[in-house]
Amino acid sequence: MVAVIFRFIFLLILAIIAFGVGKSFFNDQIGLGFALAIVSVPLAYSYINLARLRKYIMQGEIENLPSTSGNWEDILFRLQRFLRTQKNQLRDIEAQHERFIQAFQASPNGIVMLDDRDQIEWCNAIAESYFGLNFKRDALQQINYLIRRPEFIRYLSDRNFNEPLLIEQMGPANNLTLMVQLFPFSENRHLLFAQDITDLRKTEAMRRDFVANVSHEMRTPLTVMMGFLETVLSLDLDEAQRTRYLEMMQLQAKRMQSLVEDLLILANLEANIQPPLLQAIDMPVLMALLKNDAEALSHGKHIFEFNCDQAHDLLGNQKELLSAFSNLVANAVHYTPEGGKIKISLVVNEVDQGIFSVEDTGPGISAEHLPRLTERFYRIDRSRSRETGGTGLGLAIVKHIANRHQAQLLITSVPGKGSTFSLQFPTQRVVTV
Ligand SMILES: Nc1ncnc2c1ncn2[C@@H]1O[C@H](COP(=O)(O)OP(=O)(O)OP(=O)(O)O)[C@@H](O)[C@H]1O
Ligand SMILES: [Mg+2]
Repeated sequence: MVAVIFRFIFLLILAIIAFGVGKSFFNDQIGLGFALAIVSVPLAYSYINLARLRKYIMQGEIENLPSTSGNWEDILFRLQRFLRTQKNQLRDIEAQHERFIQAFQASPNGIVMLDDRDQIEWCNAIAESYFGLNFKRDALQQINYLIRRPEFIRYLSDRNFNEPLLIEQMGPANNLTLMVQLFPFSENRHLLFAQDITDLRKTEAMRRDFVANVSHEMRTPLTVMMGFLETVLSLDLDEAQRTRYLEMMQLQAKRMQSLVEDLLILANLEANIQPPLLQAIDMPVLMALLKNDAEALSHGKHIFEFNCDQAHDLLGNQKELLSAFSNLVANAVHYTPEGGKIKISLVVNEVDQGIFSVEDTGPGISAEHLPRLTERFYRIDRSRSRETGGTGLGLAIVKHIANRHQAQLLITSVPGKGSTFSLQFPTQRVVTV
């Protein structure tokens, strides 16, 4: 400031001197002209620099600073530094903003930002697919015009966002169940958060079904046993009758025992995420064990044919494989009527896959049941299966063991003719002896 006052005084003195010189050599007007000329020099210089400043600001090139001197150079230099800092700050803010957007995009959930009038300010790609939105098209649209479900419109108008809202049949294929909740932030804005809970709901339903099925399967033999017990206790039975009732009770107890055993096998298989051991299992040895089982179960009521590869071993867990194979054999024996034929074979095919198959001449299975056979407790004819003592867990166990050995369970069946259940093992599980 002091420098400015000094300059002003210096200029004034110069103007007075110029006036004095002009006046003494010529006249008053010329003196005034001299003084004005002196004053207008810095004024003209300022105008030129103002024009340079204007051009500099207009062109937007921060680094292209016009060359000046003195105060103007200082001013322009400071302006350049200020603009540079601003530009850097803006770049940082933009990068941060971009990172926020990327983070929201990376979220596995749908996110919509709503302004204080419930208009869409931003949404991620998942929200677009859940709600059929298109951010470019729908930005600043009222959300309740776009998500037209009555339960959502009610939720939005009630303004009570403490609890989430479940909306069924959403998503591109109308097959998703979404859990939607709004969270307030900033000034009266809301973040709409949508989570796909379809699988969770399915798992919950499966768990409920499972508990219901187990209870049901246990209750039936228990009720029968209670009935027998009451009879034995209340009636005066002779020894033979008593033995008969006790034998029937034993049968029911065995049913419960096998149910519990199967459930434990399944639970162990599910809990065991380790791949099965790679034991080399001699195919003929496996076959001999199965032959024993099959003949003992059949009591000579079926005709068996066994076919076994002698030159290969199967790599896997012997206990698990034997359990899977004997489940398939037991089914063939149980469901094939007396006199039926059962072919059991363990061979290596032309592309070196190990194939275990059980072919029977039983009642066969119609096509609509085939995809569901490996579900737990699934039985085609519950009452018939009850007679044969089945609980519907056998094929679920087979499927699990097959998966653990990267094998495929293939079922073909012609109703009235018979069925073939086979397990196809990948070549890396077959070794030449
Ligand atoms: N070889 C077969 N021929 C005809 N139906 C079959 C055959 N194998 C299985 N099934 C049908 O598939 C259903 C499911 O079989 P799965 O082995 O899972 O259960 P299950 O035999 O009833 O009981 P368990 O748990 O004692 O094996 C059976 O109830 C039966 O209806
Ligand atoms: Mg079975």
